[in-house]
Amino acid sequence: MESVLAERLTPEELKHIRRYDVIGDIAVVQIPPELEGRTAEIVWGLRKVHPFIKVVAKKGFHEGAFRIREYSIVWGEKRLETVHRENGVGVKVDLSKAFFNPRMKGERYRLAQLVKDGERILIPFAGVLPYALVIARYKKVRITAVELNKEAYELGLENIELNRKRLRGEIEFIYGDVFKVLPELPTYDRVISPTPKGIDALALTLNKAERWLHYYDFVGEDKIVDLRRRITGECALQGKDCEVRVKKVSEFKPHVFKVCADVRILG
Ligand SMILES: C[S@@+](CC[C@H](N)C(=O)[O-])C[C@H]1O[C@@H](n2cnc3c(N)ncnc32)[C@H](O)[C@@H]1O
Repeated sequence: MESVLAERLTPEELKHIRRYDVIGDIAVVQIPPELEGRTAEIVWGLRKVHPFIKVVAKKGFHEGAFRIREYSIVWGEKRLETVHRENGVGVKVDLSKAFFNPRMKGERYRLAQLVKDGERILIPFAGVLPYALVIARYKKVRITAVELNKEAYELGLENIELNRKRLRGEIEFIYGDVFKVLPELPTYDRVISPTPKGIDALALTLNKAERWLHYYDFVGEDKIVDLRRRITGECALQGKDCEVRVKKVSEFKPHVFKVCADVRILG
């Protein structure tokens, strides 16, 4: 992309180009203030590198508990709905209605590799079901997923149908508030919590896990040790003997990371 844009932007302007995503046939870009007047050239570059794209959308910030981003369409069809392909599944998304992050593709694949056939898995904060679909695609498991955004829930139901023939596992999808639904559910072999930023669901999700908890959180680089300590403390409170490994998944902003704590419950 940079070498293509070098035909139309100055070296100084090129320094401001940010990473972009392609979600289905929608290209999602960040256009910093320095490049506001160069949107047409950026669209031209994107279309040259990805001739199949039908929409170019400029991304804003994630808003509220449902983590929906603000977008403005800068070129193409007036829609933010598409089907994204990753890890052997199709994921129908509508970026104006529900959260979706294509950059977690590797993380979803990693988890699918860790899961064993026969497991019972709980996924709170499930969104349009990307984790559930990828795991059920490869493993013969029983997944229970929970989501509170009605539009994400409905897209998730469509995604189960869309992938029905490809799935080895089963997915039960519950519409509701994780903090009300989980206390009514049994415990599971594995719990995967793609926790929204600013929400603390550690005690609740650990309580539902028999053997593994994968808990996502956002922490400053110097606070990773504190998160590990907090989890070890919660394990002790719940009378669980745990091994905790925290790994950085992506850089959220300078020195702040999205991390995944892989908690192995030994007894
Ligand atoms: C960070 S997103 C992750 C979504 C999905 N797992 C993914 O990776 O695409 C968090 C999700 O939790 C949902 N959510 C937020 N609060 C919730 C609650 N109290 N109960 C159930 N879902 C909730 C949001 O609507 C959003 O879809």
